[in-house]
Amino acid sequence: MTARIIGTGRAVPAEIITNDDLAKVVETNDEWISTRTGIRQRRVAKEETTAGLAAEAARKALEQACMAPEDIQLVIVATCSSDYFFPNTACLVAEELGIRHAAGFDLSAACTGFLYALNTAQAYMAAGMYKNALIIGVETISKLIDWKDRSTCVLFGDGAGAAVLETGDRGFLDMVQHSDGEKADVLTCRTRAMNNLLVSGDPSLDYIKMEGQEVFKFAVKKVPECIEELLEKTGTAREDIKYFILHQANSRIISSVAKRLKMEEEKFPMNVNLYGNTSAASIPILLDEMNRDGRLQRGDKIILSGFGAGLTWGAALLEW
Ligand code: ACO
Repeated sequence: MTARIIGTGRAVPAEIITNDDLAKVVETNDEWISTRTGIRQRRVAKEETTAGLAAEAARKALEQACMAPEDIQLVIVATCSSDYFFPNTACLVAEELGIRHAAGFDLSAACTGFLYALNTAQAYMAAGMYKNALIIGVETISKLIDWKDRSTCVLFGDGAGAAVLETGDRGFLDMVQHSDGEKADVLTCRTRAMNNLLVSGDPSLDYIKMEGQEVFKFAVKKVPECIEELLEKTGTAREDIKYFILHQANSRIISSVAKRLKMEEEKFPMNVNLYGNTSAASIPILLDEMNRDGRLQRGDKIILSGFGAGLTWGAALLEW
């Protein structure tokens, strides 16, 4: 038995911040941002919360799946910007939607989070422990950003994407997933410093720090490598893949991956222009757009591939 996606949904905050808006806050401009990243605008949460966006995306996915919330057995939320240290976002989403008896936990793998959530749900379902699962990638990453740092504040956006999985005889085919802490320091957002009876630390929270070029080099090397690894592992010809749905960090990274794989760029859909890098939410937001506008058809083979802080990366092969 394997996991099959039977419903998807997405939710983004109402407020749009354009590149021109950012140029009023830091020394930057639309030309610099769009040529280097492909990003033209992003959504930024004002009233919205991580759990609220996650629940809205999940509600739409459940509706499309014709699945009653009370029937969901497992909820996994991939996020690095939860509303609370605890309770976890999965429990807040369950409460909001009326999911009463499911196991629920959050998972932290930064921009690779949704892929790790999918692989984890698949493992539980293949083991026969659960018949279905709700998986969500969600971020209000705008609160982790130093809005005075032009090298990072132009890149990110908020949003959520969700998928309902059910066991079936087709769907999830295989995956590869990796991590390597050796370069952990190229992309970080530290939590509070130790501060207790024994040590006095700075109690303030930290912001995202990134060595952009290191992240770029990592992504354009590891993503094609892991896609090749997955194709080889499954004996799949790359020509048989209809779409490569990559984490939407930067259009130049995606174009470069397409080139390295010697595939047409049309097979690598993008929406980074509209949302920026929404970290764990980017793959399921794009997946939902493609599902709802008819680009994904039954029987299509697609590869999802994520990469991000950790460093973490991986790919999954699905038959739609
Ligand atoms: N506007 C204008 N100028 C800027 C900006 C900005 N927003 N940000 C940096 N600059 C300046 C720098 O200060 C530097 O100026 P200097 O030459 O006077 O020192 C110059 O632009 C070049 O800076 P670089 O950092 O070398 O620019 P680069 O061409 O590498 O582009 C970028 C930076 C877009 C971040 C690139 O490195 C990149 O795409 N990296 C990938 C990182 C990524 O996508 N991260 C997303 C999160 S990680 C993830 O999702 C996996």
